Amino acid sequence: MTAETKKIAAARAALAEVPPDSLVGVGTGSTANHFIDLLAAERPDIRQTVASSEASAARLRGHGIEVLDLNAAGTLAIYVDGADESDKHLRLVKGGGGALTREKIVAAASERFVCIADDSKLVATLGAFPLPVEVIPMARSLVGRAMVKLGGDPALREDVTTDNGNLILDVHNLHITDPVALETEINQIPGVVTVGLFAARPADLLLLAGDDGVTRLTR
Ligand code: A5P
Repeated sequence: MTAETKKIAAARAALAEVPPDSLVGVGTGSTANHFIDLLAAERPDIRQTVASSEASAARLRGHGIEVLDLNAAGTLAIYVDGADESDKHLRLVKGGGGALTREKIVAAASERFVCIADDSKLVATLGAFPLPVEVIPMARSLVGRAMVKLGGDPALREDVTTDNGNLILDVHNLHITDPVALETEINQIPGVVTVGLFAARPADLLLLAGDDGVTRLTR
């Protein structure tokens, strides 16, 4: 089974987690795109969403699904999104698609966070995937030096401006043994908008697709 087929299987499994007639938070990336397409095709009761990126909002609207401003939406029943890495405690690295800040906001506004992924994303220790950090442009070098002090090797993501007008540093070579502590520490550095560690608020359910079907992992 290819990674793409697994992503579709995980996205399809998430449809069953979406309460009837609910307001759904929708993530970003190739797995989330499959979820959007399946939601449009198979869940006609879902007519309103909140999106974690302009790209996902455009895809939803292309299907005729309304996308609300989060400020007008209140608390969402569910947020469905992919990840770049997950450990067995459902602590995630996210932001490979550059949407980490809005993803973290929509996840925080949701009662339940369902993560959808193929089985290559499950890791013993987070950090093999470079950790994305969204930074205010004038703080790029300051934050980069702080990442070096933490043992990382930051690289500016070339030619990328986030939906919020900021930059992304991808921090290589971190071996993240305490994700909650590292998330807290990086969050405190002036100029950091968001770190792509979702550990203080991990996923509630991971739908992990492999060759033998979709496995449900909970905390
Ligand atoms: C987007 O910013 C990311 O957090 C995505 O959720 C992550 O990169 C997963 O992407 P894929 O579903 O394309 O693997």
